[in-house]
Amino acid sequence: MEYLKLRNADLTVSRICMGGCPMGMYGWGKTYEKDFLAAIREAFELGVNFFDTADVYGLGQSERLLGKGLGKRREDVVIQTKFGVKIFDGKKTYDSTPAYLDVALDRTLSRLRTDYVDVYVVHYWDEVTPPDEIVAELERQRDAGKIRYFGLSNVALAQLPAWKPFRGLFVTVQDQFSLACRCHEEDLRSAAATLDANIATWGSLGQGVLTGKYDENASFPADDRRSRDVYVNFHGEKLKRNLKIVEAMKPIAEAHGQTLSSVAIRFILDALKDSIAIVGVKRPEQLADVSRCAGWSLSPEELRLLDQISKET
Ligand SMILES: NC(=O)c1ccc[n+]([C@@H]2O[C@H](COP(=O)([O-])OP(=O)(O)OC[C@H]3O[C@@H](n4cnc5c(N)ncnc54)[C@H](OP(=O)(O)O)[C@@H]3O)[C@@H](O)[C@H]2O)c1
Repeated sequence: MEYLKLRNADLTVSRICMGGCPMGMYGWGKTYEKDFLAAIREAFELGVNFFDTADVYGLGQSERLLGKGLGKRREDVVIQTKFGVKIFDGKKTYDSTPAYLDVALDRTLSRLRTDYVDVYVVHYWDEVTPPDEIVAELERQRDAGKIRYFGLSNVALAQLPAWKPFRGLFVTVQDQFSLACRCHEEDLRSAAATLDANIATWGSLGQGVLTGKYDENASFPADDRRSRDVYVNFHGEKLKRNLKIVEAMKPIAEAHGQTLSSVAIRFILDALKDSIAIVGVKRPEQLADVSRCAGWSLSPEELRLLDQISKET
């Protein structure tokens, strides 16, 4: 495994972070609790010590399962979780108020079976609550010992000036980035540079499309979110373009004796300096597969080629 000391935190994390969205066990096709628990055990074996989740994933299920799976090993790992997205009656709203943070954090701690969160992340800013009020509440919770550090997620370029005064305070910034999705790259790079934070990417496998297991007939059951058009990676022209990227990845994977998943994650680690790739996994063998990205690099020519094709498509 490769490790990284976060720039503004006394935390050393694996550059692969186990993503807890599928662990919400909702909207990701068939999932089994025993597989997630086995994946967490596999993380210990592989040296993955960084876990990402959110209170909204499965409406608490992901945090509950992570807490159960970590058990006595909690002290050995770094937990990053998020607050501020609410789902009620199937409708999503954002709430970044201090009052909501206070309630959400206590619920999170109870589900995770811990008394502190290592990195507590503003999931999506509601654009109403002033950042200084959010930061004041985060600091209050940190001083109370419930949070160690803060993170920011999905900060668009236009929102960045509002957060600029807090440079050095947020240790990670998160957004979607992969060979299949370059559209938030500017937001992500600018947020990291402006706030002096480390980058953590989500959707790192393009929700699975970059693993090479799909063709033009990719389809999902109606209760899998990827069946919906908003999950663009699996539909129409975008799916065709993704399959072209996968074709370009194949000779590179072969040259390195690697899997496509491993190449997809290696691209992130090589393209974004000091980054962490958050990868959603459902089973231990998926985590073992992506972890093969550690310990080697793409050549400058391979990196250039993948960069180019993923920008073109
Ligand atoms: N901050 C935010 O707003 C935000 C938003 C979304 C996600 N996230 C975080 O980022 C994490 C990653 O994003 P994501 O889970 O949406 O997408 P992802 O990591 O791109 O894709 C995950 C999916 O890929 C498939 N997969 C994983 N490893 C595989 C392997 N080795 N071989 C074949 N298939 C494999 C699995 O689905 P199948 O087995 O069904 O193919 C898995 O659920 C999330 O879990 C979450 O922690 C954050």
